[in-house]
Amino acid sequence: MIGVALLGCGTVGSGVIKLLQKNSEIIDKRIGESIVIKKVLERDTEKCQLLEIKDELITQDIQEILDDQDIAIVVELIGGIEPAFSYIMAALARGKHVVTANKDLIAIKGKDIFDRAKEKGVDFYFEASVAGGIPIVYPMKQSLAANQIQEVIGILNGTTNYILSKMSQEGRDFNEVLAEAQQLGYAESDPSADVDGLDAARKIAILSSIAFNSRVTLDDVYVEGIRSITAADIQYAKELGYVIKLLAIAKENSQQKIEVRVHPAFLPKTHPMAGVNDVFNAVFLHGDAVGEIMHYGRGAGQMPTASAVFGDIIEIARNILHHSNARIGCSCYENKAIMDIKE
Ligand code: NDP
Ligand code: HSE
Repeated sequence: MIGVALLGCGTVGSGVIKLLQKNSEIIDKRIGESIVIKKVLERDTEKCQLLEIKDELITQDIQEILDDQDIAIVVELIGGIEPAFSYIMAALARGKHVVTANKDLIAIKGKDIFDRAKEKGVDFYFEASVAGGIPIVYPMKQSLAANQIQEVIGILNGTTNYILSKMSQEGRDFNEVLAEAQQLGYAESDPSADVDGLDAARKIAILSSIAFNSRVTLDDVYVEGIRSITAADIQYAKELGYVIKLLAIAKENSQQKIEVRVHPAFLPKTHPMAGVNDVFNAVFLHGDAVGEIMHYGRGAGQMPTASAVFGDIIEIARNILHHSNARIGCSCYENKAIMDIKE
């Protein structure tokens, strides 16, 4: 038995429980051992009751989780910086492995967390933090690791892509579509993080740190959101054969400086990313050996994100059972120069 504690039973946390309830037989077979939820930290106990989680598993006290020797993996899905950061650091200090979907935290505090995980020899995985259900962190860390990456271009925010798609295809109003994206569980608890480009900026900071073996934080990213895009802009783009997308772009320029930015852009309708609509995300990258690759799938939402979170849980469970080392645990960063393009 591999004991798991879940911090947060909101959109994604509930998805993790539902996925286990639905596919536990397959999951256990693939691991060769059972995954068992031992505790759920959640302040709104009604959410847990709706999922038929037994009362004795629900807690509001992180100490109960930290002290429980049967809990090997802590899955942080409460979001935000604090108390998520303190909980993760405390769990790692106790030798527990950690999975998170929290890009806000990784983009700002990633280094402290990687250092703690390395020091304690435990796994810290974060596949769901970028592009929801699309496998991208692991492929970039592992399968593409022999490549020199020249550029990464992403549609990395499901909420804004949903808004822009619905405005363009159905002529709908920005605020009405944003409310729908919130209802569907795509938006952040403060949706201005989506609309103003910060969420995509956090994600491209994470991807560019991996792609360029550097340390890119949110402060290094030029950010512009979609608030100023009007129906007239969208119509004008259409007439010229373009679509408007919120792009996240990272590239290394000829002076070996890394340039990272998020802003709305006109894409020709013929571009492979122009057809990425609704909540779908895509990451298009160019490596010197592999050439061009595009990863595509649902970038937000309950079950796609739960799929990525569970992939990490399964991988850690396998590591525990086979006594293998951390997969994504830590990075060796170089201090590469990052271009200041905020002016
Ligand atoms: P939700 O707000 O739906 O869920 C968070 C849950 O945690 C809520 O039930 C919240 O309760 C609870 N919570 C928050 N703080 C505490 C605390 N201190 N103690 C106990 N419970 C707490 O968020 P999501 O599930 O959408 O997102 C979770 C994480 O996953 C975030 O980091 C987000 O960025 C990330 N993510 C989300 C995706 C999505 O599509 N939704 C996709 C990819 C990543 P309350 O409601 O009372 O505040
Ligand atoms: N709010 C985010 C989005 C969730 O819309 O993409 C997935 O990270």
